[in-house]
Amino acid sequence: MNTNRSVSRRDIIRALAGLAGASLAAPVLAACGGEDNPASTAAPTATSQAGTGSGGSAATATSAAATPASTPAGTPAGAPATGTVGGSLTVYSGRSEQLIQAIVDQFAAASGVEVKVRYGDTAEMAAAILEEGQSSPADIFFAQDAGALGAVAREGLLAELPADVLDLVEARFRSPDGLWVGISGRARAVVYNTERLSESDIPPSILDFTDPVWKDRLGWAPTNASFQAAVTAIRVLRGDDVARAWLEGIRDNGARVFENNNAIVSAVIDGEIDAGFVNHYYLMRQLAEAGGDLPARNYIYRNGDPGALVNVAGAGILTTAKNQEQAIAFIRYMLSPEAQTYFAEETHEYPLVAGVPTDPNLVPLSEIQTPDIDLSDLADLEATLEMLRDVGLL
Ligand SMILES: [Fe+2]
Repeated sequence: MNTNRSVSRRDIIRALAGLAGASLAAPVLAACGGEDNPASTAAPTATSQAGTGSGGSAATATSAAATPASTPAGTPAGAPATGTVGGSLTVYSGRSEQLIQAIVDQFAAASGVEVKVRYGDTAEMAAAILEEGQSSPADIFFAQDAGALGAVAREGLLAELPADVLDLVEARFRSPDGLWVGISGRARAVVYNTERLSESDIPPSILDFTDPVWKDRLGWAPTNASFQAAVTAIRVLRGDDVARAWLEGIRDNGARVFENNNAIVSAVIDGEIDAGFVNHYYLMRQLAEAGGDLPARNYIYRNGDPGALVNVAGAGILTTAKNQEQAIAFIRYMLSPEAQTYFAEETHEYPLVAGVPTDPNLVPLSEIQTPDIDLSDLADLEATLEMLRDVGLL
């Protein structure tokens, strides 16, 4: 998809702000990775000073810097760029407090940086950054999908990251212009009931689920932000006509509409539906919580199909950032072995830095041929929403 430079920043703000506003009033856009996760493992640590609100609307949390005593004098070479950085940093986060505050606290403790985090959904934070423009207090935009980073980058508001930071992550999971970098990977998956289906029953393309053989067996969550990004990917890769026909075909197959991905996974486990379209980590989290096996598995496409999309949560530094050094230290930390392990183990996402183990129950990224797409191009959410409305899904 080509960048449409004729779209004004005001139009984009209106679109993003509309999404954010609508998501508060009605389930047009559900957070993905925030509210629809089970309460679980990523509770803030004691270093958080915040008496913060719960996820959802924009809350602000502050991580206090640790005492200087916690900063070792001789930090080994190759360790993340923490040490004594000091100062402060403001992060606008589309990732929920529940998922990331703990790792933000660890960064604060390791670096001596006081971190203020404003939480909201990703579209809302992108809209805020565009609206605030030159006067935005944000140093970093930490988004849960690449499309929102692309939207902010397209407006010239993200600065180029240092090459050694970019090089930590494969090219397919970062901005081709070096303006944002993926922090963790989020694969699209078909979650299926193992008593009804085996892997060989899954068709070779996600687009094939329009076959009537799938009538009344599927579930989806059209309000889910990651689903919408996946539809945008089909639009970008195959064109609007194919995307629309796919949506109509799945709809006409009687796919059950769920509020979020967790509900889809639960319905698959309970045998209410045979399969559903989700992000991979929802099942991983339910498996971890169950502490035993469940009759469901993820099928992750690995053949370059539009269904093989791996989106990222990622971060960029604002051109207007007043705390550049702290911002770079934050991104380096999020790509450090400690933080990458946190994302692998606590949020059940894919680590994106080599050498950090992926959950053995997941297909390794090296075996997934992702579709040939610049994740920045997932920015065109408005046209996807319009299509979903036209097809009667929103
Ligand atoms: Fe999600």
